[in-house]
Amino acid sequence: MPVTILGIESSCDETSAAVTQDNRVLSNIIANQTVHQNYGGVVPELASRAHQKNIVPVVQQAIDKANIGKKDIDAIAYTRGPGLLGSLLVGGSFAKSLSIGLNIPLIEVHHMQAHILSHFIHDGSNQKCDFPFLGVNISGGHTQIIRCNDYFDMDIIGETIDDSIGEAFDKCGKILGLSYPSGPSIDRMSKKGNHKKFYFTIPKVQELNFSFSGLKTNFKRFVETQEKKEPGFIQREKYNLCASLQYTISEILYRKVEKAIKITNVKNIVYGGGVSANSMIRERFKSNMKNINHYFPKLEYTTDNAAMIAIVGYLKYKTKNFGMLNAVSDAKYKM
Ligand code: KG4
Ligand code: ZN
Repeated sequence: MPVTILGIESSCDETSAAVTQDNRVLSNIIANQTVHQNYGGVVPELASRAHQKNIVPVVQQAIDKANIGKKDIDAIAYTRGPGLLGSLLVGGSFAKSLSIGLNIPLIEVHHMQAHILSHFIHDGSNQKCDFPFLGVNISGGHTQIIRCNDYFDMDIIGETIDDSIGEAFDKCGKILGLSYPSGPSIDRMSKKGNHKKFYFTIPKVQELNFSFSGLKTNFKRFVETQEKKEPGFIQREKYNLCASLQYTISEILYRKVEKAIKITNVKNIVYGGGVSANSMIRERFKSNMKNINHYFPKLEYTTDNAAMIAIVGYLKYKTKNFGMLNAVSDAKYKM
């Protein structure tokens, strides 16, 4: 009998529910919260309220689209953390209540493990990679290089000491007047620009760690000074600014991934998180790093989604790795 899992994701600003059957996705519904667009970032209180409003219809849609009944669900997987506590609590409480109501097991999922393990979703086309591999988690909340020895045996070998890579996109986008999240618009606008037009410094950070806050300050100072000197600078140069910024961000990541490959001698790289949707990162990494296998997720599984939560649910279900009703949602949940 195939295993049917309902996955629930509510760690940040997307309310999502998905149904999987073994490693196949039957439905993956994502309600984006547009309420944050004008604030330049996620407002936690508004995020929790939007999750409260969305959770019931989103779960219902996921079940309807999968064309199953509630009694067909074998277990409920939910994001226990990390993330915004108020947001996590909405998905967590809903998952627990439904598991009591349906009398089925509950499965706790680590959001960052899920981004990497979304690689194991069957989508009919891509090849799967064997352990060990390097997981490169690049999102709005995290920037991590992880040595993945097995599904749930992961060691973080590098991470950011300040801002995440997604914040570098979003905060610099805000300086250019773009709405949140600006990663996708920077990606689009960069295609019309020259990435060699402006130069921004690459930070020097030890080992496999990252820093992005200096780049943001560097970018802000440069753009504001130029705008003062020649009003209209941002508008005139927006495409070149986006392309040069995106190139710098991808270069920071490129150097660290290259270093991680050298140190670990692992040649399979699995990417996860919203920034792994970036077209320049995808193209540059695949064409410039020779003899390395790069596995990027399908675009729909890059940003936050419940299909990745459900697939982890499936992997844990197979070993009866069930969660507890008294487990507390954890904003800083450790891997
Ligand atoms: O994984 P995600 O949905 O949420 C977190 O877990 O944080 O990642 C969201 C981040 C945002 O910073 C957004 O700007 C960025 O992913 N992002 C992109 C692209 N699509 C989303 N950044 C660069 N290029 C993209 N195409
Ligand atoms: Zn995420």
